Amino acid sequence: MPDEDKITELSQTIETAVAGANSLGELDEVRVAALGKKGSVSAMLATLGKMSQDERKIAGPKINGLKKSISALIDVRLAELKTEELAKRLASEKIDVTLPLPAAPVSRGRIHPISQVIDEITAIFSDMGFSIAEGPDIETDYYNFTALNFPKGHPAREMHDTFFFNPDENGERKVLRTHTSPVQIRTMETQEPPIRIVIPGRTYRCDSDQTHTPMFHQVEGLVIDKSSHIGQLRWVLEEFLKAFFEVDNVVTRFRPHFFPFTEPSMEVDVQCDRSGSEVKIGQGNDWMEILGCGMVHPNVLRMSGLDPEVYQGFAWGIGIDRLAMLKYGMPDLRAFFDADQRWLDHYGFRPLDIPTLFGGLSS
Ligand code: DAH
Repeated sequence: MPDEDKITELSQTIETAVAGANSLGELDEVRVAALGKKGSVSAMLATLGKMSQDERKIAGPKINGLKKSISALIDVRLAELKTEELAKRLASEKIDVTLPLPAAPVSRGRIHPISQVIDEITAIFSDMGFSIAEGPDIETDYYNFTALNFPKGHPAREMHDTFFFNPDENGERKVLRTHTSPVQIRTMETQEPPIRIVIPGRTYRCDSDQTHTPMFHQVEGLVIDKSSHIGQLRWVLEEFLKAFFEVDNVVTRFRPHFFPFTEPSMEVDVQCDRSGSEVKIGQGNDWMEILGCGMVHPNVLRMSGLDPEVYQGFAWGIGIDRLAMLKYGMPDLRAFFDADQRWLDHYGFRPLDIPTLFGGLSS
């Protein structure tokens, strides 16, 4: 049984330690050393278990009393130290209200050119009465190819440098969509014509150089109605290009091409000037290929559940990244995805300058 002296001695030692603790950290160390699981007071409490009942009757209240008084002592010191620390902080942390404010995050942050261009495209097509549609990045072979009239084994499939997933239990291989065109099918399956949609989104192909990255962006357009025709397609695209490049005039050239999902299919070149260091749209004597388009193939309409004797329509696909490079003069596509803050500071857009047709797209 610990005698009276031992208890008094321990009590004094701890009291001295508590009084000598000069920070919250130091005080906590003292607390743990006394009252923690392996602390001195706890060790003394543990001796109660080995005492006879009579001994325990005498020692129990004393040791418990010690524990209580030490806890109380620590609480008092804790309150003192907290007050002292607050006083110290108040004395040392001064705010000079005459200093200029640092820039708020909203004015320091920058919008990535891809997001900016998607917003610009959305603003232009919304103004023309189009809705926005989206679809999954991971597609089935059916939506990415078959329903778009790429027969199995057709060489056009090979041209897409597709990323395939491992086959599932049915032997089916999902793909990272190689274009935004599958969303045409998904839309036609679920919406009644008339359909007027644009589909911005990420697309993937196994390719990388100055103008190609394995992940890139496209915007797809689709119009389905009973009498949609190529004249409307041309008007829509020219109005879009004028609005997007913020020029009064664009001259386009429609060249015959092949896409499985359109018939006829065309590639569109836009007249431009390449004489300086940057390509200028809306002037000059050069041509630049800018998008693919065509009248939706009757097979595609049929596979999406629409009667090609009743409905017809047109579609197009544009590379968003390329539009961004052209409009804002960025030479290397790979830099878009390097996440380099300096690049973004230079080429990015202010977050509150939201592109609108009335307020200006890029200003
Ligand atoms: N999906 C085509 C591609 O990625 C682009 C395209 C061309 C989309 C013509 C269309 C279209 O809707 O009509 O190469």
